[in-house]
Amino acid sequence: MALPEGFIAEIKDRNDITDVASSYMNLKRRGRNMVGLCPFHSEKTPSFNIYTENGSFYCFGCGVGGDVITFIMKIENLDYIDAVKLLAQRCGLNMPEDSYDDSMSALRKRIYEANREAARFFYKSLYSPQGRKGLDYFHGRALSDRTIRHFGLGYADENPYTLCNHLEALGFKKSEIVAANLAFQRDNGNIFDRFRDRVMFPIIDLKGNVIAFGGRIMTDQKPKYLNTSDTPVFKKSANLFSLNNAKNSGVKSLILCEGYMDVIAVNQAGFQNAVATLGTALTQEQALLMKRYADEVIICYDSDEAGQKATARAIELLRNAGLLIKVITIPDGKDPDEFLRNRGAEGHDAFLNVIERSGNDLEYRLQKLRRSYDISQTDGKVAYLNEAVKILASIDNSIEQDIYISKLSKETEVSTDAVKQQMNKYKKRKRYSDKKTEFRNIRQNLSGRNDKLNPERYKKPRSTVAEESLIAYMINHPDKLGYISSRIDEGKIQTEFNRKLYVYFSERIKNGYDPLSSVSGDFTQEETAGIYRIVNSDFARMATEETLRENIEVINEEYAKLKTADAANATYDEIAEMLRMLRDSHK
Ligand code: UTP
Ligand code: MN
Repeated sequence: MALPEGFIAEIKDRNDITDVASSYMNLKRRGRNMVGLCPFHSEKTPSFNIYTENGSFYCFGCGVGGDVITFIMKIENLDYIDAVKLLAQRCGLNMPEDSYDDSMSALRKRIYEANREAARFFYKSLYSPQGRKGLDYFHGRALSDRTIRHFGLGYADENPYTLCNHLEALGFKKSEIVAANLAFQRDNGNIFDRFRDRVMFPIIDLKGNVIAFGGRIMTDQKPKYLNTSDTPVFKKSANLFSLNNAKNSGVKSLILCEGYMDVIAVNQAGFQNAVATLGTALTQEQALLMKRYADEVIICYDSDEAGQKATARAIELLRNAGLLIKVITIPDGKDPDEFLRNRGAEGHDAFLNVIERSGNDLEYRLQKLRRSYDISQTDGKVAYLNEAVKILASIDNSIEQDIYISKLSKETEVSTDAVKQQMNKYKKRKRYSDKKTEFRNIRQNLSGRNDKLNPERYKKPRSTVAEESLIAYMINHPDKLGYISSRIDEGKIQTEFNRKLYVYFSERIKNGYDPLSSVSGDFTQEETAGIYRIVNSDFARMATEETLRENIEVINEEYAKLKTADAANATYDEIAEMLRMLRDSHK
């Protein structure tokens, strides 16, 4: 990823990581560092640290880390070059021309263009004679032409080559059309359309790019919906249908629906803030994405069993993301699309009424619980109360807890004190188990246990730790490279990952480069996180020349041990060499 060294250094200089991160999250100063709630996983106490001295971040809760470029890659879902471009733009620098490999970025651009052309083409087809059945279908589902236009809905016809031919005539390469997942390729190299005889729903990102499609069959055949698979511009689990519209709705709440048609019907009824997942269950990533645009989410799933399961899961994820939640129950077990269809002009008020009558997630959960117990019997009452206080104990808001305790007490005719006491018992238990989980996670991240980057850690814990300290010292004190390399060579670094780092950083220092400045471009995101874990760890910050000497000694000793273990099969010369080393390491 050969962007000029000086350019990357300048990008980092001009984009202070604290400034950049502050526009996505709240940060507080803690000593020399800044801390905040991690935007990459859900947490209640901050484990996300920014190290201002070396311009990096690391989260002890989930183990992500890197520099300002990594931060942008992760939060904006961009690849390296595009993240650098965004930062260049942010500080008014021009990208150097032709000096870097931009092929991925170029392919992404072509995929956006192919998708845009495809969306246009599908829309046009809808209003052509072949597309009549598609248009009739949408009209039959009570969508107006204005709505169809607003969402850019379309039709892909039966002929398996229509779109491919169209795109190829416009100059798109077969490989680009296949990469966009608009077509499949046969063994003989020919390509054919992925979407045939389906009405089409374009999925548009926050910048207005068409990133994917959903296509619905108009009969009872399966699968009902076909969606674009993940491509270089589309990740199902990280996007939401119609978030582009919802973002501009002017309200800080989102209505989370189950499907495309629900979102569109709700929009048509005058609620611009509806979104849906893209053919999968809600993910943590999507919950955190919603948190960036809203304070509250109104869950509006089907009332069937699958919908209720999905609701329970969504409540958990959205709560953890720090969102307020309401749960809508649509009368008669209908989905919002059915509810609104045929209500015409009255749809808006009717739906608003449903929203206003909806309870928050606690009410929803308690009501559901209430239905499964007979509280006229003592047993039922006790069991119900027990489960109910467990739910209350799981939330963080003591005002809410108080309100529901008095409701429960009235409902069951048990004193508020008794209910409260029972709840506190569970609260204590929960707090204890939460802390334990948190502790386990952090310890795991800090110790690098389950280390996928350096799986040899288990077998060679002593070497691994010494190697990491050595590498961190070298990065933080590049002037000590000469001293280090006169006492150690790469062959003595026993674990493969650390050996790779040792070689990489010595090379950079020798060439006079800042050791860390290109890490995010030269390593994968996991490796980058691993490197910043090492660099920012306490043992690295407290390292002195004394600890450096000790670490060098440990590395030499461990290496000598390794060789001694091999002595049984060694030649005379090898044994002589080992002896020499053994003596050296104990000098
Ligand atoms: P539903 O089956 O509830 O569809 O799936 P719907 O939105 O009510 O569709 P209509 O009203 O029958 O047209 C909900 C969502 O699940 C995904 C789609 O995103 C759909 O909108 N889905 C469903 C698929 O991806 N594939 C399928 O085969 C079915
Ligand atoms: Mn439906």
